Amino acid sequence: MPVNYEIRDGIAILTLHNPPVNGLGIATRRGLVESLDRACDDDAVKGVVVTGGARAFSGGADIREFNRPEASQEPTLPTVITAFEASPKPVVAAIEGMALGGGLELALGMHHRIAASGAQIGLPEVKLGLLPGAGGTQRFPRAVGLETAVNMIVSGTPVAASRLADTRLFDAVVEEGVLDAAIALCREVAESGATLPRVRDWTIEHPDAEGFLGFARNGVAAASAHYPAPLKCMDAIEAAVKRDFEAGLAVEREAFAQLLASDESRALRHAFFSERAAGKVAGLDASVVPRSIDAVGIVGAGTMGGGIAMNFLNAGIPVTLLELGQEALDRGLATIRRNYENSARKGKLTAEQVEARMALLTPTLSYDDLAHADLVVEAVFEEMGVKEAVFGRLDDLAKPGAILASNTSTLDVDRIAQFTRRPSDVLGTHFFSPANVMKLLEVVRGKATAPDVLATVMALARRIGKTAVVSGVCDGFIGNRMIEQYSRQAGFLLEEGALPQQVDRAMEAFGMAMGPFRMGDLAGNDIGWAIRKRRAVDSPEITYSRTADLLCEMGRFGQKTGAGWYDYAPGDRTARPSPVVDAMIEAYSAEQGITRRRIDDQEIVERLVYALVNEGALILEEGIAAKASDIDVVYLTGYGFPVWRGGPMFHADTVGLYNVLRSMRRFAKGLHGDAWEPSPLLVELAETGRSFN
Ligand code: NAI
Repeated sequence: MPVNYEIRDGIAILTLHNPPVNGLGIATRRGLVESLDRACDDDAVKGVVVTGGARAFSGGADIREFNRPEASQEPTLPTVITAFEASPKPVVAAIEGMALGGGLELALGMHHRIAASGAQIGLPEVKLGLLPGAGGTQRFPRAVGLETAVNMIVSGTPVAASRLADTRLFDAVVEEGVLDAAIALCREVAESGATLPRVRDWTIEHPDAEGFLGFARNGVAAASAHYPAPLKCMDAIEAAVKRDFEAGLAVEREAFAQLLASDESRALRHAFFSERAAGKVAGLDASVVPRSIDAVGIVGAGTMGGGIAMNFLNAGIPVTLLELGQEALDRGLATIRRNYENSARKGKLTAEQVEARMALLTPTLSYDDLAHADLVVEAVFEEMGVKEAVFGRLDDLAKPGAILASNTSTLDVDRIAQFTRRPSDVLGTHFFSPANVMKLLEVVRGKATAPDVLATVMALARRIGKTAVVSGVCDGFIGNRMIEQYSRQAGFLLEEGALPQQVDRAMEAFGMAMGPFRMGDLAGNDIGWAIRKRRAVDSPEITYSRTADLLCEMGRFGQKTGAGWYDYAPGDRTARPSPVVDAMIEAYSAEQGITRRRIDDQEIVERLVYALVNEGALILEEGIAAKASDIDVVYLTGYGFPVWRGGPMFHADTVGLYNVLRSMRRFAKGLHGDAWEPSPLLVELAETGRSFN
């Protein structure tokens, strides 16, 4: 039963039971109304207390119902709330754990509320591009005041109940004994026969509501350019101030319906569900038992090894870090310490926490010290010969059952696995730089990787706060394989008539965190150069614009050399368009006999984004990614793709695959048209009116 009903000394106690967070799905909503009716019909019952137990009062709407008809099936949440508000017997909410979104709106419909001081209270709907649609925008300002309500509804960020202790929201905020306090209050109110308070009848007091709303609206508009929800929140809150309760509710409902149908909210909800879905891997059910990981070894203390180590140290997992020589080891350690000390300076860590993390780290020059590790992550130079030597050593000394992972970004994980006598214990863990910051982890499943090895690493990723996506083995895995096509198009655009600053401006206006050329300057243009040199040998048929090579030949590797696609003043990361680079590009076009043309921003965006989409479709078709939403997660968490567009595959679905294919066929007729062979999957979906997601 989603709602447990029990009578204690004349008080009906309704306990929500819908793990994990008492989501308010249809069965729970029905259970609530039925239990309320039962309590009201029973003369022996004097009052009602609603609780959700220690973990959660309620986390809000049942997300599994989103996009399904149950969400609007009666009793809807507004119906449930109105029923409690209209109850002739007093209703008290006993809030522990959390009251979020619809859960808080439900409590706002009750006559009294008692909360545990640490309970999380908030209205996070805006994070899914929505607003609180069950009266939250109307009742919450009445309960906590206008300014707090605006801040919390527009940001969506929850606060501890103790922070709201001096508002009308709570009758009491207590350290412990929430349920007992609620029962006592309920009994007292029932015995007193006092009129039952309803939040809807309260007024919003503010010395200058008009002035504050105007000020807040300007701030919100400036901060939420691509997101319609925050301003709609403002509209609804303004109605709460200026109009009567029912009229305010109508404004809220209308705004909610508009947001629910908006592309932005659909994209944000897609992103939310996709991230959860990425952790669920077909075939890895409860019967696959993960191995336990209590000690980690890392080979290589360079850029990646150090950052990777920090992830484990942050989660309290001891790390043994191995290098070739003392100097490199010392440098790696110093970098880790400096990163922690910077965090401490910013107030994110205490000095004790810094020392506790460093104490978990054991530096070594000896492979023998890795013999006890449950997982070893290799992060040495990107050369097959070096990987072969390292995996050979690891195979000789790692204990049976240890997982051997490579952080390679381009090499064949199946070949690396063959350097050991235990290929089923080998897989790729492709972290993104800076590895201690970036949330994305591509987990590369080799042909031989055992299911429990994969399950272990997926669970470990959660433990260290990463969003893990499974990729099959191919050059570049999901993310980098796609970005290569994007970069290729960016290069071709330069030859045809665009300049780096125009391409970047167009992509940043589309919503990318950074355009491709600013990105190249940040990451180092020499990385792509090295890859292209290798490709020229392995796959000479793939064509590139030579402009990026010419740039590297000029020594312009990016920010690290003080010059790349842009010029940089010493100590300043501001990208300044470079006349030298512009001249190089124009001279190259002339040399190729290309008449430069004006390229509009729409073409730039479509060519770069559809290049991602087409490669993504191939990746799906080949089974490298199990689902389109996994590709979207990679791009949202690792490549700065705008969340409000839901990822490249979702964006293509939103544009319509028919339209995407039509553009590709147009590009195929242009210069460099050979890069536009549409994937058979894309063609099939487009021609049958279907979509990726
Ligand atoms: P790096 O050059 O900064 O660090 C490599 C470290 O490994 C050096 O400190 C070197 O002394 C050490 N090393 C080399 N051979 C060794 C051996 N046999 N035993 C022990 N230590 C050895 O390189 P980085 O950037 O950290 O890359 C490491 C791996 O991570 C490569 O496979 C790279 O492709 C991959 N990767 C790099 C990313 C990046 O943005 N830098 C992103 C994702 C993956």
